[in-house]
Amino acid sequence: MKRVKMLAGNWKMNKLNRELAGFFATFFESVGWYRDETISDRIDVLFAVPATLMAQAVPLAEPNGVRIAAQNIHWESAGAFTGEISLPMITEAGVTATLIGHSERRQYFAETDETVSRKTKAALNADVMPIVCIGETLDQREAGLTQEVVSRQVKAALEGIEDPKDLVLAYEPVWAIGTGRSATAAQAQEVHAEIRQLLRAKYGQSIGSSIRVLYGGSATPSNIEDLLSQKDIDGALVGGASLKPDDFAKMVRAGL
Ligand code: 13P
Repeated sequence: MKRVKMLAGNWKMNKLNRELAGFFATFFESVGWYRDETISDRIDVLFAVPATLMAQAVPLAEPNGVRIAAQNIHWESAGAFTGEISLPMITEAGVTATLIGHSERRQYFAETDETVSRKTKAALNADVMPIVCIGETLDQREAGLTQEVVSRQVKAALEGIEDPKDLVLAYEPVWAIGTGRSATAAQAQEVHAEIRQLLRAKYGQSIGSSIRVLYGGSATPSNIEDLLSQKDIDGALVGGASLKPDDFAKMVRAGL
């Protein structure tokens, strides 16, 4: 089963509307397929942007085959949830995907396996692509708990989901995020292979083999080729390097 590679940028809490036009102009020029609508057949490129940037980013990105994603959503579609953003709100802005359960949300904003599961179901019901993030902390890795933690997170996120549609998983070891210390390609591949087994056990060979699993954590132009050469690594979720249009364009080219 051939899986189309995905290069996804996560801008986290960075950038302003006034930076968007310049960013995308440089990015498309650098990647070399400005206005090439066929690109999405070969690679999926996506940027998860802050809520304030969505409406302006969509018309700059979508016509060129690049998706805009949210970084988080609430599972309810409306209501008294001060400070939250709903699926109808992001889809109204033209957003077609969302990160769910990023480790920074788990660490600083009380995201749990249970809320990840609710959000994943809500996104699938709204036909928004969920990109569900999982990964162990340094303490957990050093205690030999990587497999147990990742397996628990994957199972919890997929609990009760019979049809995963276009769901994507992102394995992001917490100790590799923003530290400049990427997992080695072999370390990442080992965990990705375990995730692949879980997916096949739950959904069967065909669907289990079709779900993409991205790697995230200090992915850069210098290690991307190594990471993408691994059998079960289907792309990358990129923080810091996705803020620099030339660097991210290099990473996208490596996925082609
Ligand atoms: P860095 O690429 O900056 O390590 O961030 C990874 C990440 O958290 C992407 O979601």
